[in-house]
Amino acid sequence: MIRKLADQDFEDIFRSVNDAAVAYRGKIPINCYKTPYMPREELREEIKAGVEFVGYIQDGAVVAVMGIQPVGDVTLIRHAYTLTSHQRLGIGEKLLNYLMALAKTDLILVGTWQDAEWAIRFYQKHGFTLLSREETNRLLCKYWNIPRRQLETSVVLKQRRQKMKTLMLKVDPQNPDLQIVERAAEIIRNGGLVAFPTETVYGLGADAFNGDAVRRLFEAKMRPLDNPPIIHVADKAEVTELAAEVPLETKMLMEMFWPGPLTLVFKRSKNVPKESTAGLDTIAVRMPKHKVAQALIRQAKRPIAAPSANLSGKPSPTTAQHVSEDLDGRIDAIIDGGAADIGVESTVVDVSCKPPMLLRPGGVPYEALKAIVPELVLHPFVQSEVELQMGEARSPGMKHKHYAPRAEVILVEGSVQGVIKKIKMLTEDYEARGAKVAVLCTDETRYIYTLGVVESMGSRRSLTSVAQNLFRLLREVDAQEVDVIFAEAVPEEGLGLAVMNRLRKASGYHIIKADA
Ligand code: TXA
Ligand code: MG
Repeated sequence: MIRKLADQDFEDIFRSVNDAAVAYRGKIPINCYKTPYMPREELREEIKAGVEFVGYIQDGAVVAVMGIQPVGDVTLIRHAYTLTSHQRLGIGEKLLNYLMALAKTDLILVGTWQDAEWAIRFYQKHGFTLLSREETNRLLCKYWNIPRRQLETSVVLKQRRQKMKTLMLKVDPQNPDLQIVERAAEIIRNGGLVAFPTETVYGLGADAFNGDAVRRLFEAKMRPLDNPPIIHVADKAEVTELAAEVPLETKMLMEMFWPGPLTLVFKRSKNVPKESTAGLDTIAVRMPKHKVAQALIRQAKRPIAAPSANLSGKPSPTTAQHVSEDLDGRIDAIIDGGAADIGVESTVVDVSCKPPMLLRPGGVPYEALKAIVPELVLHPFVQSEVELQMGEARSPGMKHKHYAPRAEVILVEGSVQGVIKKIKMLTEDYEARGAKVAVLCTDETRYIYTLGVVESMGSRRSLTSVAQNLFRLLREVDAQEVDVIFAEAVPEEGLGLAVMNRLRKASGYHIIKADA
């Protein structure tokens, strides 16, 4: 719903604002170029300054645009445009609520007009305090970097967000202590949020039948509201409670691959709250194999809605430490059950349509599924080298930015020799221009690279090992504050299909063909 817009061109900005607005209210955008409320030059300046925007659409035009800007450990909420008219339209408060949920830091500063009294009241209700004139001036200079008189803002408020205490519960992944699991299960039953290990990646769980809990889950992750979670069950029989129908040929897939890294999309049953399916008429269900995940679902005595336990847009977490980096202070507990085994998420197959369609490659290879269901097709997006156009998405997750580290990622594809040559050239180039570079390569090619941070994802002879390390390395390399990460492409066989799909998304489709 919210995008980093700094490097994108103008068309993209409008599309992103559109996306955000659609996600927010589920309305169809028409054309937001015509909006009278978007002073383009001004917007361009703010985008350069790193402001992320969210918009609202009514009758096919953007009627509200608001910005949020993280500056170090402070978040600035900027509503530069038509704040008072937002309120007149009855959407002001909704947008402010939404912006607040997006603030990633503990200290939030808001500037607003003196006459936007309703906004000031709104913020005070949320624990913001009004600042004195001196402090306002000091903060304006420090964070907005604007001389006082150039700013229309006349009031600044600040809030120090109350963090919640996130419990860390350690268990033996092979033989989890059921008393500890029970503590976590109780949190789930009471509507809380618990991150837990699965064989693919860590999930962030909430009671799938508690709409409020699932809504809080979206907030904690800052996940777009139109992207539904996967519902996790401990028993195949539980599917009947969630799905309206289970096609016969699907039963075979369940017998073969459940428990395991396969998610199936069914027509949904009416019992499931709309939050758990993001209002779609289908539902994604998976039965994980991990002992801790199974024990948690069993003891919670209900299906658990669980997307990956990362902040939306970041690489999925494969350890409790990764979860903590993203979500500490935002969720009730994390069960630490060691590193996830597979390292990429489950394969998502839509069996509510004919022929069944693979929407996201993952832990179960396409080839293995195809051997059972020969008519299975790949959604074109799975191997797409360009960003999905709106309207083509079959799975809501397809259209959102994903797996992206802070650094720029460039994927280099081609013959192994060609790739090596290209990456060597590129790293020399970038280093010469003062950039800090990293290379994600493979065991077989590792010795060739001499510049920057060099990490092997695993062996080309075992793409399973590459999958296992991928997300961890994206995070680790990013933590070393590199500017650009060059990644070697791997063959799209077995888990290689999932690896390449994630790398393409992480790169924002910045792909270089080595042999061209
Ligand atoms: O391995 C996994 O699947 C992990 C672990 C925690 O189980 N979970 C995970 O969840 O990756 P998440 O939320 O990060 O990804 C769920 C994917 C998204 O791409 C979403 O769009 C898709 O499943 N999805 C969910 N419900 C859907 C539906 N009804 N139709 C199509 N796609 C759906
Ligand atoms: Mg995810």
